Amino acid sequence: MTAVKGSGPEDALEQSNRSAAGADDGEECGRSPADGRANDYDAFAEAYAAENETSLANAYYERPAMLALAGDVSDRRVLDAGCGSGPLSALLRDRGAVVTGLDVSAGMLAIARRRLGDDVALQVADLKDPLPFDDGAFDLVTASLVLHYLEDWGPTLAEFRRVLTPGGRLIASVDHPIVAYTIFDPRPDYFATTSYTFEWTFGGRSVPMKFWRKPLHAMVDAFAATGLHIKSIDEPQPDPAAREIYPDGFVRLATRPTFMFFVVEAPLS
Ligand SMILES: C[S@@+](CC[C@H](N)C(=O)[O-])C[C@H]1O[C@@H](n2cnc3c(N)ncnc32)[C@H](O)[C@@H]1O
Repeated sequence: MTAVKGSGPEDALEQSNRSAAGADDGEECGRSPADGRANDYDAFAEAYAAENETSLANAYYERPAMLALAGDVSDRRVLDAGCGSGPLSALLRDRGAVVTGLDVSAGMLAIARRRLGDDVALQVADLKDPLPFDDGAFDLVTASLVLHYLEDWGPTLAEFRRVLTPGGRLIASVDHPIVAYTIFDPRPDYFATTSYTFEWTFGGRSVPMKFWRKPLHAMVDAFAATGLHIKSIDEPQPDPAAREIYPDGFVRLATRPTFMFFVVEAPLS
């Protein structure tokens, strides 16, 4: 990819395997040199949103999977956490949900506003911070491809639980732990939480992206520690409609792990 499809780890991880710019940060915690400017979605919001709109990984894999897991959302109050330019928010709204979108990037939210008009409340906020919502404000929280930007899921999951009504659900997609583990050689300690950084390039401009990988048990433990009950862990197949549009990528996605999906539930009391 000349440009690197920054829209999804399926492409981005592939790019990073070839990219000299990619780097295992070699740390279990602490700051990487790129911290000050990493993950600057504002810098490439328009290009990212355009790519995300039709990409195999997002449009034909991640979003259909989220919608299938969400099921009937009619009249449900949904928080789309890390909503980006709002493609999932729009689909949920179109299915009758009352959607609130939240993202740390004002640039991404500006595109979401353009897409969604005034139908959807949008809020600039960092998922590392307490959420600006009342207890029990939502029936469903969706978190598409955002948790892997966070080193510590604990405070964020605790906030998701707080804003969920009892029995409400969180549906989260993240880079599959196997993919995150195998992205660089030599491979890191699988059992440690470690970061890695690589460049996403759009229109000739490179932006460092920093991700946190965790072993599967650490993800499961994070939900359990917050009192969220895991209902399912899913490794879905891509939308069959993509077979003709992206024949090679389709076979790749259908045969290799890419993202992992969690459905978890807030306790009834
Ligand atoms: C890979 S994009 C996914 C966007 C959207 N969920 C989708 O699937 O189209 C990740 C999004 O997470 C947002 N993000 C990253 N770190 C965040 C944080 N700490 N708090 C809130 N949003 C964050 C980014 O700004 C970006 O819009």
